[in-house]
Amino acid sequence: MRKREKVELMIREAIPADAKDILAFSRKTGAETPFLAYGPEGLELSEAFEEMYLEDLMGNRNNVMLIATINNKELIGLASVGASDKPKLEHIGEVGITVEKEYWGFGIGTVLMEEIETWAIETGIIRRLELTVHGGNERAIHLYEKMGYQKEAVMPRAMKVNDAFVDGVLMSLMID
Ligand SMILES: CC(C)(COP(=O)(O)OP(=O)(O)OC[C@H]1O[C@@H](n2cnc3c(N)ncnc32)[C@H](O)[C@@H]1OP(=O)(O)O)[C@@H](O)C(=O)NCCC(=O)NCCS
Repeated sequence: MRKREKVELMIREAIPADAKDILAFSRKTGAETPFLAYGPEGLELSEAFEEMYLEDLMGNRNNVMLIATINNKELIGLASVGASDKPKLEHIGEVGITVEKEYWGFGIGTVLMEEIETWAIETGIIRRLELTVHGGNERAIHLYEKMGYQKEAVMPRAMKVNDAFVDGVLMSLMID
């Protein structure tokens, strides 16, 4: 995207009809960065499975998937929170976030993280948001710290990238 190009950004909850775009997005972004849990193969889920998953997600109390689109069309960002339905764990939400590389640095990650936090507050259930980030992912760590997330631990061998182990950094934000 050119710096002065004007686009309309929309953030909304994903619906089953987004399944195909979400899977294509996972393949594209998986090829663009070493910082995701998958590579160019993406999520490797069938469209039917992803549709069912998104159907189940709609109206879920403590799980969400938000997507960022531009010009009401192209999917360029995704943020999710996954949480257990078990009463002892239902307050812990694991955050995932990805923005397509062409759109990095325009504040879209920030908007998605803000929306995730607002959603978490509104659930009345989520009291801890957490994530594990590749220790070398300076852009993401900066974003999380800007949003108030604290580093809790360095986890040796938390990930393996190109056959080399890398540290993961466990970060969290308390929702009060
Ligand atoms: C991490 C990610 C979501 C950020 O999205 P984004 O839309 O670029 O985020 P923003 O533009 O809102 O913010 C990026 C911030 O990082 C800063 N930044 C950019 N490069 C940086 C670097 N090398 N080191 C530190 N900070 C950096 C920017 O200045 C900006 O901070 P600011 O708002 O204080 O100026 C995106 O880069 C991404 O999808 N990466 C690949 C997938 C990934 O790593 N996901 C996280 C897995 S835990």
